[in-house]
Amino acid sequence: MIDNLIMEDLEKIKSSVPRDFFCGKKVLVTGGAGFIGSWICDVLVDFGANVVALDDFSTGRRSNVDHLVLKNNFRLVDSDICNFDVEERFDVVFHLAAHASPDEYMANSIQTLLTSSVGTHRVAELARRNDAVLLFASTSEVYGDAEVVPTPESYWGKVNPIGPRSCYDEGKRFGEALLVAYSKQYGLSVRIPRIFNTYGPRLREDGLYGRALSRFVHQALTRQPITVFGDGSQTRSFCYVTDTVSALMLLAASEKAEGEVVNVGNIKEVTILELARKVLEFTASKSEVEFLPLPADDPRRRCPVTAKLERLINWSPNVEFDEGLKRTILWFSGKTH
Ligand SMILES: NC(=O)c1ccc[n+]([C@@H]2O[C@H](COP(=O)([O-])OP(=O)(O)OC[C@H]3O[C@@H](n4cnc5c(N)ncnc54)[C@H](O)[C@@H]3O)[C@@H](O)[C@H]2O)c1
Repeated sequence: MIDNLIMEDLEKIKSSVPRDFFCGKKVLVTGGAGFIGSWICDVLVDFGANVVALDDFSTGRRSNVDHLVLKNNFRLVDSDICNFDVEERFDVVFHLAAHASPDEYMANSIQTLLTSSVGTHRVAELARRNDAVLLFASTSEVYGDAEVVPTPESYWGKVNPIGPRSCYDEGKRFGEALLVAYSKQYGLSVRIPRIFNTYGPRLREDGLYGRALSRFVHQALTRQPITVFGDGSQTRSFCYVTDTVSALMLLAASEKAEGEVVNVGNIKEVTILELARKVLEFTASKSEVEFLPLPADDPRRRCPVTAKLERLINWSPNVEFDEGLKRTILWFSGKTH
């Protein structure tokens, strides 16, 4: 479904990303039916790129891209990236396919590791054969429970290699290492953004897929208790989807970003309890806050240093947290069509 709110947000992204770079290019978006991938597909199709979105729909939704399937410059491929092999040529690859929601990746830990390892290898070979630009969506989770916060790219991370989150964290760390090796050994043109928490319309809220922000909004709107893990003093930095997508597309288009690993996120740190209170206030919900045990290896704080991103692509976030949260709530409440 594409509604007014999404149309407005797409205009924001389109005004900040160079249309000419993508126009006429053949672009593969793995994880293209997912939250972030579907926004990238929307912008690319509008810019006149020839887009192939690949997704196995493990967490992605057809409804995110249904409005694109009749466009003649868009094709949806239902496939696991681990088995994807084509002769087709691509100029740019956005590799976003991953199991990104904690409950979901913990329940599918082997598939999560294979997607980030075997899947990333497939994509790297494809990009190498095509001499394509390859952007790999890495994550702040590569820092684990960081001891340096705000965290710069130079920090190596504190990750439990056999903990419950390791399938995601170590999978992404392997993906980074593999692509740095491809860059060194074959000169592959890679960009490796480490994305911090991103939120906005199309973020899944249901069951296993829900991440804290979307889960809270869903719970508040359906009058269920807001489930806060621990005492809620742990922090996250939330970046609105238009800002993240602009950064990813600018990085793909930037020669200066070639070979770079770079944080993408908002530097405003918010406690989870503060987030719960804001959700309650903005939804005018009567839901109670329910405190549950903190999961193992849950990072205490998350906040990026974004100086490198600013330097490389002259980027800074445009959407304040309160505004982004209100827009997200509006979209979740279905009042925007
Ligand atoms: N949203 C965030 O806050 C955030 C933060 C850090 C990193 N990231 C990264 O950004 C990317 C996109 O995340 P998202 O938030 O849009 O999540 P998402 O779950 O909505 O998107 C991931 C997509 O990949 C697909 N997928 C998973 N395994 C696959 C496989 N083996 N083959 C083909 N498709 C597969 C899923 O069906 C889904 O559509 C992911 O790589 C994620 O790790 C996201």
